[in-house]
Amino acid sequence: MATNKLKVAVIGLGNIGKVVASNLVKGNREVIISGHKLEDAKAFAHQLGSLATAAEVPEAIKEADIVVMAVWFSTIQELLKQYATELQGKIIIDPSNPIAPDGNGGFKKIIGAEESAGQIIAALLPKDSKMAKALGTLGAASLSGAAFQKPEAAVLFYATDDSGINATIEELIKDSGFEPVRVGSIDQSIRIEVFGDLHEFGALGKTVTKSELKETV
Ligand SMILES: NC(=O)c1ccc[n+]([C@@H]2O[C@H](COP(=O)([O-])OP(=O)(O)OC[C@H]3O[C@@H](n4cnc5c(N)ncnc54)[C@H](OP(=O)(O)O)[C@@H]3O)[C@@H](O)[C@H]2O)c1
Repeated sequence: MATNKLKVAVIGLGNIGKVVASNLVKGNREVIISGHKLEDAKAFAHQLGSLATAAEVPEAIKEADIVVMAVWFSTIQELLKQYATELQGKIIIDPSNPIAPDGNGGFKKIIGAEESAGQIIAALLPKDSKMAKALGTLGAASLSGAAFQKPEAAVLFYATDDSGINATIEELIKDSGFEPVRVGSIDQSIRIEVFGDLHEFGALGKTVTKSELKETV
């Protein structure tokens, strides 16, 4: 059944895009699916059921209030330029980690040690748009496996410079099956990106509930 919540578009049909869209549908949110190929987006939307629809990228952005950029860090930067007009006034969700394979089976950071993808993306935002670093603060496997966990939900951290969208981001995270915890402004993004002290693939090293977080941090 349709809800009157803000409309979400998920751009990118890879590991993160598919999990985020599936979680939102499980949480009864309508989702517009979009990627490189409309046929693939249509097929995935069909799989997700009546709460999901598919659209080409510019149409998906125009139709949505919240745009989840489930593509690589460099692609987000390109899309922000390419769709600067369509993205005006939207809430942009950046789940990216600024990493690339290190050639030894692991990953390396592709920006300065003290830099975050969140801050770099925030500097490129289209006019009147707002942004939160969110939804990529766990690996895809945990984002899928720990969603709607019982008896206590797992935490998903977020950061934003605009506290006016806190409630919107928290609703989005809750509808994805997680407990939202704001770490602060975008300058705190580094803490919730890969290698950060609050990341599953950083010092924290695991998914946590809010109670476990209080004991750990
Ligand atoms: N994987 C993880 O565990 C994980 C965890 C946290 C955060 N993240 C972050 O989430 C983001 C996505 O990662 P991922 O693992 O989902 O990557 P992925 O599996 O490689 O998926 C990326 C998707 O983006 C699509 N894409 C590329 N360029 C596009 C464009 N111009 N327009 C529309 N779609 C485009 C790709 O389509 P094609 O295949 O057709 O090119 C692909 O479906 C990255 O920023 C990553 O750092 C990933």
